[in-house]
Amino acid sequence: MRLLDPEDAHRLTIRLLRAGLGPRAAPEPWGAGLAIELCGLKLDACIGLAAGFDKNAEVPDAMLAAGFGFVECGSVTPNPQAGNPRPRLFRLAADGAVINRMGFNNDGLEAVAARLAARKRAGVVGANIGANKDSEDRAGDYVIGLERLWDLADYFVLNVSSPNTPGLRALQGAEALDDLLGRVAVKRQALAAASANRPIFLKVAPDLEPDEIATIVEAAVGHGIDAIVVGNTTTARPPTLTSAHRDQAGGLSGLPLMAPSTEILRHFFAAARGRLALIGTGGIATADDAYAKILAGANAVQLYSAMVYDGPGLIGRIRRDLATLLASDGYASVADAVGADNPLGTS
Ligand SMILES: Cc1cc2nc3c(=O)[nH]c(=O)nc-3n(C[C@H](O)[C@H](O)[C@H](O)COP(=O)(O)O)c2cc1C
Repeated sequence: MRLLDPEDAHRLTIRLLRAGLGPRAAPEPWGAGLAIELCGLKLDACIGLAAGFDKNAEVPDAMLAAGFGFVECGSVTPNPQAGNPRPRLFRLAADGAVINRMGFNNDGLEAVAARLAARKRAGVVGANIGANKDSEDRAGDYVIGLERLWDLADYFVLNVSSPNTPGLRALQGAEALDDLLGRVAVKRQALAAASANRPIFLKVAPDLEPDEIATIVEAAVGHGIDAIVVGNTTTARPPTLTSAHRDQAGGLSGLPLMAPSTEILRHFFAAARGRLALIGTGGIATADDAYAKILAGANAVQLYSAMVYDGPGLIGRIRRDLATLLASDGYASVADAVGADNPLGTS
């Protein structure tokens, strides 16, 4: 796979998974220590697949079978979109990192809805929704996404943090965020009354200052958001990067994102004071990394980039090793470890 162009390798992986050739998680002899309830969702493991791997909901069940406790499809936009010209996905192998500027390439809501509707609905699958690049009402695109997929996914993520749709991150600003979350809350109330309520999460960038974090948390709490995903790829370029592709435009993910995104997570945990859940995403490649996010305040974690190097089989290893780490520290359940080592505050 690594000899192929990274986007071709990704397409081939999706094809193999669709053909049923993915890994299968072995039964776990060590019990239910990784199971959690996240905003009403019952997860058999607190480690999920981050958005972007299965943008078009082609393989959620294969990824659940591989051992992910929850799978996030998307980002999906109302209309299909080609995304940016290729090449737009780069391996930084020496840095254990990836840079992407995909630009929300996806099949659009109708295609994703049809695939989700054809599933048997076992396991927790979320829909990460975004806005079309040429939309005149970006906040309106999230409302459209929620409405179309409401009965087809178990949770929703408002992605306001992709660096590859110009201006999208401006939705994290106080006024724009208040407007977006207010409109989402109104739509949610109507949808919940007509069928059932479902959790809605907000996905933020890791490139935030402490005062921006406080503003985002208060807006999210005020509008009933259930959790914050911390976070997306970074536009920063740490000076430690050595790969030839380090100056490519786009979002950086993988190992160099682990420490800075965990530090931002600590700030979110302190600001949230237990009023909403947190999902730690960014640079997780091992059980130690997942554990560090949990100790910093994550109720659950997600990963994507490590699979570019280690393949989908890595989830089985991380599950096994995380269960061992928790047990050796005397935690019967992952929930007991959340925020246990966060010097900035407790819930
Ligand atoms: C190729 C690629 C595409 C991505 N596409 C999306 C996306 O469509 N929506 C989204 O919310 N995040 C997307 N992400 C971000 C990931 O979900 C994740 O937040 C980020 O990569 C940090 O986690 P990681 O270091 O484990 O990859 C993408 C990441 C990569 C590498």
